[in-house]
Amino acid sequence: MLEIISFIPAAMSRDEQYQDLLSNISAMVADETDWISVMATTVCELHHKFDAFNWTGIYRVTEPGILKIGPYQGTHGCLTIPFEKGVCGASARSKKTQLVPDVSKRSDHIACSATTQSEIVIPICTPDGTLIGVLDVDSDEINAFDDTDVKGLEQITTFLGVHYASIIA
Ligand code: SME
Repeated sequence: MLEIISFIPAAMSRDEQYQDLLSNISAMVADETDWISVMATTVCELHHKFDAFNWTGIYRVTEPGILKIGPYQGTHGCLTIPFEKGVCGASARSKKTQLVPDVSKRSDHIACSATTQSEIVIPICTPDGTLIGVLDVDSDEINAFDDTDVKGLEQITTFLGVHYASIIA
């Protein structure tokens, strides 16, 4: 009887893909002390990891109550978002992750792209709790994000906050 031995590795779960991603990003930026390089590398790695990520970027806190666009991948993003506006502003105000399965049902959503259907925004804080920005991921698919994304992306923003603190120390 013919025995078929498969050398194709089992597909990684999304949770495993996030762990893989975090390990790649941390290895890539381990010795990097330029914060823009760290943000740009992280955003690039994230954006190309998952097909459902259509816009991936970081908004930075540049003055009290103001978010300004940082490195991003995708089509044009809004340049300035005050804390009182948008899903990004809600995340900045509350320092909590905002998971929006359907942006049409979220009244404060700012539509930078007409094709966006769902969104997740995660705050980026240093270990002492200082907010330095938010990570925003948009998808053209409805309900593209779930608890696996919340966990995986929060691990990445925690890493970014720790790395930023080490750069400015
Ligand atoms: N949708 C965001 C604005 C940023 S863009 O999507 C790139 C918001 O509501 O804050």
